[in-house]
Amino acid sequence: MHRIATLVGAALLAVTATVHAEDDKIAFPENYRATYTNYLSLDRTQNPDQVIRLFANDIAMQGPGDDGKLPYGSILVAEVYKAKLDAEGAVITSSLGQRISDKFALVAVMQREEGWGEQYPDGLRNGNWEMAAFKPDGAKADKDLNACLACHAPLTDTNFVFSYQHLLK
Ligand code: HEC
Repeated sequence: MHRIATLVGAALLAVTATVHAEDDKIAFPENYRATYTNYLSLDRTQNPDQVIRLFANDIAMQGPGDDGKLPYGSILVAEVYKAKLDAEGAVITSSLGQRISDKFALVAVMQREEGWGEQYPDGLRNGNWEMAAFKPDGAKADKDLNACLACHAPLTDTNFVFSYQHLLK
């Protein structure tokens, strides 16, 4: 009886594992500021009070291949900043009409490797990409990675990358 309970428990664990992002696959990309390319920085398009700076490793900077996908080994890093607010809590913009970066909040990472992502159902699967979220000091950030996957998953025409056109050669 105990054995059956253990088996059922293990099976349940396996099912749960298949629908949750595996946040231990991606290591914090040490030194990315020195070794990656900052290919784009912008006011976030879906977050009214954030700024984002995007970095790509050399493999991702090669751009999509003939299959339209970034090569295996591609790593994209998004530095997320809170935008500076005025005393009333409204977002300030500069004379350029841009938000001003304030607190460095999160290092969001996407990495594409052969065989990755196969455990996810439709709606969460991002091809062979996995996601991870770190604090600026490199410690794991407590984020629901399924939310990351769900928002990027519809982008099937651009290999699940919002800034895809900025990586085309
Ligand atoms: C509600 C939608 C949404 C969610 C949730 C989301 N993202 Fe994104 N992500 C975007 C958008 C939109 C961009 C493009 C830049 C911008 O406007 O913020 C982006 C850009 C990125 C990029 C740069 C590559 C690209 O796609 O352009 C990475 C890396 C990234 N996100 C990782 C993550 C991670 C990791 C999480 C979860 C912690 C996450 N995202 C959650 C919408 C989302």
